[in-house]
Amino acid sequence: MTYGGSSEVRTVGADERRITVTVNGERRVVEVEPRLLLAHLIREGLALTGTHLGCDTTSCGACTVLVDGVPVKSCTMLAVQADGCEVTTVEGLGTPSELDPVQEGFSVEHGLQCGFCTPGMMLTSKALLDANPDPSEDEVRWALSGNLCRCTGYQNIVKAVLWAAEKKRGATA
Ligand code: FES
Ligand code: FES
Repeated sequence: MTYGGSSEVRTVGADERRITVTVNGERRVVEVEPRLLLAHLIREGLALTGTHLGCDTTSCGACTVLVDGVPVKSCTMLAVQADGCEVTTVEGLGTPSELDPVQEGFSVEHGLQCGFCTPGMMLTSKALLDANPDPSEDEVRWALSGNLCRCTGYQNIVKAVLWAAEKKRGATA
């Protein structure tokens, strides 16, 4: 597996494919084996370790990233399937000086304990709020039903998402 910036050209090995993925707004040209999982490209190839791997079996949602704005469990998608796509990881959600409302919500409402599930929770929540700015509590719980948390009991996570929804609505009102 080899990696380069947008202008870098390398020879593609016989068992590799060259793909172009825009990750957190940065165009990346990478050469990957067809069997490589998107999660491994993100974590090991691009060193974006905020994407966590909890189960490797599509169960926990810790590996969730956005692919063209849609939450995807990156342990269940091949890197080559992301060719031409925009991928957002938790590192691209906000900046230290300008947090995404979802990040603020998790902080204000104490929506995390160990934090292992949090990147996936926040990306799933962002996709929900982008599609539905005023979700009910049930809609939040349904949207997050593919993301497991071993610590919190979910109550504060739901509160965090509802807080973020209100903040976003206020910002756009
Ligand atoms: S690591 Fe992908 S769903 Fe658990
Ligand atoms: S905060 Fe620990 S798994 Fe969710």
